Amino acid sequence: MPMRVEIVPAARFARASVETLLELAVRYPEPAIGLPTGRTPVGMYEELARMVAGARADVRSWRPFAIDEYVGPRAQACSNRAFFGRYWKGQWGARPVEQFDPEAPDLAAEAEAFERRLGEAGGLQVAVLGIGANGHLAFNEPGSTRESTARVVELHAASRASAASCWGSETPTHGLTLGLRELLAAPAIMLLADGPAKAGVVALALHGAVSPECPASFLQEHPGVTVVLDEAAAAG
Ligand code: PGA
Repeated sequence: MPMRVEIVPAARFARASVETLLELAVRYPEPAIGLPTGRTPVGMYEELARMVAGARADVRSWRPFAIDEYVGPRAQACSNRAFFGRYWKGQWGARPVEQFDPEAPDLAAEAEAFERRLGEAGGLQVAVLGIGANGHLAFNEPGSTRESTARVVELHAASRASAASCWGSETPTHGLTLGLRELLAAPAIMLLADGPAKAGVVALALHGAVSPECPASFLQEHPGVTVVLDEAAAAG
């Protein structure tokens, strides 16, 4: 199946993201859904909150899994855990987001345990992904292979630069992430990108060589990808 690409005006990006997510999720009775953080999906979560409040969306059957986390204090306002505290609401009747514990004494064991929990849930049915300026998916930085699994990774300079806008001098050097193997195993994948800063990397990911140098390029080989872009991110 060719990749489905939806290009929408910036003002419709959040709404289109939610509509596509709901359309993918409804295919599965209790979908395990990989969820991203960062700037890109904020509008999606806010719109989802409005739709749940208006009884236009129901996420009670979803089994949400965070796709990554910074190795830093759990309670830090810039952690992904804090992000989900802001944008994933208990009052939706939703299950809490399964998350990596960045304060686990043995981070490699924590990554393995998280992968095991996801495996016990049957793996992801839907993976919602942003794309890093360097082509990363979750924290699968350039150089990550298709077979990579959940693990501790050293963050690349581009990811640290992006994180620094929130973390400042506390910017983590490492992250915990699901691997490309777990993400690409989802039968349905939704990639989100908006804004002019993502145009180059989106073009590279969708039309460039398939290579670990641009982890998002592996999506070209996946049969169930939907890409939601605003016009600026689609410009390349
Ligand atoms: P951003 O991050 O939404 O903050 O640009 C995307 C990503 O790095 O996956």
